[in-house]
Amino acid sequence: MSCAIIGGTGVEHLSLEQREDHSVHTPYGQVAVAAGYLQGQQVFFLSRHGHDHSLPPHLVNYRGNLWALHHLGVSKIIATAAVGSISPALQLGMLVLPDQFIDFTKQRATTFYQGENGVLHVDMSEPYCPGMREVIRRSAAQLALAMHSGGVYVCTEGPRFETPAEIRMFRQWGGDMVGMTGVPEVVLARELGMCYATVAMVTNAAAGIADHPLTHAEGVEATRSLSQTIADLFVNILANVPEERYCRCAQAALERGKF
Ligand code: HPA
Repeated sequence: MSCAIIGGTGVEHLSLEQREDHSVHTPYGQVAVAAGYLQGQQVFFLSRHGHDHSLPPHLVNYRGNLWALHHLGVSKIIATAAVGSISPALQLGMLVLPDQFIDFTKQRATTFYQGENGVLHVDMSEPYCPGMREVIRRSAAQLALAMHSGGVYVCTEGPRFETPAEIRMFRQWGGDMVGMTGVPEVVLARELGMCYATVAMVTNAAAGIADHPLTHAEGVEATRSLSQTIADLFVNILANVPEERYCRCAQAALERGKF
C-alpha cells in the first residue's frame, strides 16, 4: 500500500524525513514528486501548483501528476484544496470532506482515454473514496479538529473568482463549496483505480457572500495558518490507513479499453 499527498494552495511544502526528489518522466511531461517519511510512515508528496505556486489551476498538469503517482505505485491519494464556502454550514478555517462534485471546468483534459487506447466511461457514483473519507474523518476526530464530513464541491475553470450570480446559481444547484482544482484530479485518479479523497480548507466565503472583494492572498494566508494542523492530520491519517482496500475504487476502471 502506497500513499501520496497532493498539496494545494498553502501546502506547497511538506517536510519529509529521508526526502528524495524525483523527476518522473510521463507521456505528459516531467513531474516532480518527493518521496520520504512522515513520522516513520512512507509517503509521496506532489505540490499541485509547483513548489513556488507558479501554476494556475487551469494549467496544472493533472494527467502528468496522476500518471506519475500511479507509476510510482501509489494507490491512495489525500489531496488538499482551498475552497470558498457557499453553504452557511461551512465556516472559515473549517476542514471539509467533499463527497460529490459538480464540474464547471471548460478547457481541461479530463481523461486518459482519447480513443486510440479505447474509451472509458468511468463510474462516478462515489467520486471520493468512502474508505479514505472515513479514515480522514476518524483521524481528524482523534485530533479534535473541526471537520465537516460530506458536501458538494463545485469546480470552476478559474483563474478568475466567480461572480455573485454564479455563486447564487451553484447554491440553488446544491453546491456547498467552490474551488478550481478538484476536477479533473478526482476523475483521473478514478480512471487509474486509485482511492482519492480531498481535505478541503475553507479559506473564504464565496463571492457575494463575502463582504469584501476576494483575493488569492487571503486564501494563501488562511491555508498557511492551518499548515501545522494539516501536517498533524497527515501523520494521523497515514497511521490509520489500512493495508486493505474495502472500497470499489480499484474496480472503477474495469471497462477500460473494451470499447
Ligand atoms: N472560488 C474558487 N476557488 C477558491 C475560492 C473561491 O471562492 N476560495 C479558494 N479557492
